[in-house]
Amino acid sequence: MNNSWWRNAVIYQVYPRSFLDTNGDGDGDLPGVIERLPYLKSLGIDAVWLSPFYPTPNKDGGYDVSDPRGVDPRFGTLTDVQKLIESAHELGLRIIFDVVPNHFSSDHPWFKSALSSPPGSPERARFHFFDGRGASGDEPPNNWNSLFGGPAWTRIAESDGSFGQWYLHLFDASQPDLNWANPEVSLDFEKTLRFWLDRGVDGFRIDVAHGLAKDQILVDHRDPKSLSQALRLDFVGMTQESRAGLLRDVPFFDREGVHDIYRAWRKLFDSYDGDRMSVAEAWVYPSSRAARYVRPDELHQIFNFDFLMIDWNSDVIREAIERTLSEVAAVGAPATWVLCNHDSPRIVTRLKDANRARALALLTHSLPGSIYIYQGEELGLEDGSISDEARQDPMFFRTHGIDKGRDGCRVPLPWDAAMPNFGFSSQDPWLPQPAQWAKQSVNSQEVDPESFLSFYRKSLALRKSHPALNHETPIIWHHAPKGVLHFEREWGLVVVVNTTDYKVEIEVSATSNILHISRSGVHLANGHLKLPANSTVWLES
Ligand code: GLC
Ligand code: CA
Repeated sequence: MNNSWWRNAVIYQVYPRSFLDTNGDGDGDLPGVIERLPYLKSLGIDAVWLSPFYPTPNKDGGYDVSDPRGVDPRFGTLTDVQKLIESAHELGLRIIFDVVPNHFSSDHPWFKSALSSPPGSPERARFHFFDGRGASGDEPPNNWNSLFGGPAWTRIAESDGSFGQWYLHLFDASQPDLNWANPEVSLDFEKTLRFWLDRGVDGFRIDVAHGLAKDQILVDHRDPKSLSQALRLDFVGMTQESRAGLLRDVPFFDREGVHDIYRAWRKLFDSYDGDRMSVAEAWVYPSSRAARYVRPDELHQIFNFDFLMIDWNSDVIREAIERTLSEVAAVGAPATWVLCNHDSPRIVTRLKDANRARALALLTHSLPGSIYIYQGEELGLEDGSISDEARQDPMFFRTHGIDKGRDGCRVPLPWDAAMPNFGFSSQDPWLPQPAQWAKQSVNSQEVDPESFLSFYRKSLALRKSHPALNHETPIIWHHAPKGVLHFEREWGLVVVVNTTDYKVEIEVSATSNILHISRSGVHLANGHLKLPANSTVWLES
């Protein structure tokens, strides 16, 4: 189906804990999301993706799920979820939920019964339990590290109190990995997917989609140092080849077995009406291997994280756009573009410059495929600066503070400059908000036509109304001076990006008009275009 809604959609990520708190406990909740659906609609988006709201001890921001078919009371009730889906649909918005199939929380009843059952029992076989190495079994079964730092194995005490087996956790020790070779696990996930599909959800974001299959579980990695480096997923400034080199032999990523899982899931999605979709969070290089997740009988989309890490360099950006478009086209899938999410520094913080962030955003909004926007991105927020005492991310604790973790991009949203906690909550938010966010609150920006918010609203509105943008027309590149990108989308949209720190002048068609700009100072007369440093312009010709 080439006119499927998700192919060229704008999808907005809500991190519910930081969105809006309606009951004054300092944590955002589902009634808060319902209350602000009209705001989300006003941005010109097509769908809302919610990070997890399931019951959780909250050791990893809810990505430690203790009941995948429930709702954590901190976020609300199942009735709230139902109301959220219905209210979104009434406004013409789709709803996507997060599923976390790589692991459960150690609070999940399955893990508790695994702990109280003996080695070799069916209860343990849902996870990866093994005896330790060494004479007394006090060394982990292999040398793998956790993505959050430290070993990927934790030793348990058996029910008689003796030192026991070890279990695998690619993330925090509170997130035991599930054993996908066990059919009980796939059956339980099918139940979860059906549970939410039956309630009307339009799609799923699949957490750590490349990690489920582990076929070399007791094999040591030959170089733990390069494994740690690969697991930090910190690829800023690295070429595709070096990313691929690092990730190629991570023994628990991108194994062939994951594709069987997604083929089965695709059949399940297709058995439902209503054009349901799925998007994989899968860190896979080279990117040609990522495209294998979106073959016609597998998932619908895979996040393309290139822009999350991209250098502000026109050659690098053009290479990423061309490669992405050709790789997904080869399997018939649409591209995706991501500037921010709940795991990464915000774009203004990363590029250290609001003009560059706006220019990259306007470029991104002009590309064919789906765009993912993380809450607060439309406000041009920067990461909050958080004291070590206030930090909550397990990454911070497991690396003993060497890695500060991801709390900075999770600070609760500023809605109203005049209200306590900028209208997020009547009580202290779970992470402190920067004082300068008063100027960046939604209500301050709504009345300012030059604001980040007004700028995002305009480009997203044009993405809906302009024939060159509201479907997946191809890109035609034009020759451009060094540091400049110049291309055209069929049906008369021309995009010019100046990544340099100086003004550039280029010739465009004499009949062009300016449609949208990322900053002031753009001049166009008789086809002579002057662009200020670090800017993007959309022209109509
Ligand atoms: C994904 C999530 C991240 C979480 C991890 C473990 O990468 O985006 O927030 O910590 O998976 O579930
Ligand atoms: Ca609340």
